[in-house]
Amino acid sequence: MENIHYLEEQFQARIDKGERIEPRDWMPEKYRKTHIRQISQHAHSEIVGMLPEGNWITRAPSLRRKVGLLAKVQDEAGHGLYLYSAAETLGISRDEMTMQLLTGKAKYSSIFNYPTLSWADIGAIGWLVDGAAIINQVMLTRTSYGPYARAMVRICKEESFHQRQGYEIMLTLCKGSEAQKAMAQDALNRFWWPSLMMFGPRDEDSPNTAQSVKWKIKRQTNDELRQRFVDITAPQADYLGITIPDPDLKWNEERGHYDFGKIDWEEFWQVVKGNGPCNKERIAARTDAWEEGKWVREAALAYAAKQAQAVEVKQAV
Ligand SMILES: [Fe+2]
Ligand SMILES: [Fe+2]
Repeated sequence: MENIHYLEEQFQARIDKGERIEPRDWMPEKYRKTHIRQISQHAHSEIVGMLPEGNWITRAPSLRRKVGLLAKVQDEAGHGLYLYSAAETLGISRDEMTMQLLTGKAKYSSIFNYPTLSWADIGAIGWLVDGAAIINQVMLTRTSYGPYARAMVRICKEESFHQRQGYEIMLTLCKGSEAQKAMAQDALNRFWWPSLMMFGPRDEDSPNTAQSVKWKIKRQTNDELRQRFVDITAPQADYLGITIPDPDLKWNEERGHYDFGKIDWEEFWQVVKGNGPCNKERIAARTDAWEEGKWVREAALAYAAKQAQAVEVKQAV
């Protein structure tokens, strides 16, 4: 017991000094578990996040838009891969993580349980959802766990491309016909509040925040990050000439921030619990992909085994 106490103190001292924790280093069990949960949920979000956008690849309005969207969706697959690999360094297998997703034990970002009803939704997702993700993820490039922080550096670079391509879609629609502008407004109306929910529950309702800040998993709280998002996004909506669907949104000179209205937390918890518009559809799509991809995984393993055997034979000769 003494010994554990000593190790924990040493561990905290390293974090306080700003040192990175690496896979072979000693770490408290709770630190390991918290990271497995957070990194795998992040990985699942990247992979499930491909689904609402994949829905529009075949219907993109031009070749340029199709190429851009394809590249973005592929990037998200890459993000999922880096993150699953980072989580594996903590001693959980890829299969186990997948099972947790498919059985509902692991969550993913609730925003991906909303449908994409029009092309403007692709613009709104890039602008708002990737925009919100960047705010979260820039913070994570300085998180204490090395493999997670390093994956984030690369991911953030790609996310900023996603955000810009989304904003450009919105800008094009807003400069277009009345119908196109109305489409952009409708997408903003539907995606605004779920985007604010992406930062998670209010600080007063998130009991793990203090521990996460202490371990430098998080460096800013949910509410701080959410405020930052609103402050950045409100002027962008003004520039587009569309209206954020919140009558209470206004600049507060004294605080130096935008004030904004109440979030419907009941809706948030309903979606988290699996009752969002597309929860069942998303899990069904991932389950099909897992089952239909079985032969590919088996073939890849068989090929790798053969290669290893060939190397062994060569070395023996
Ligand atoms: Fe991503
Ligand atoms: Fe993205």
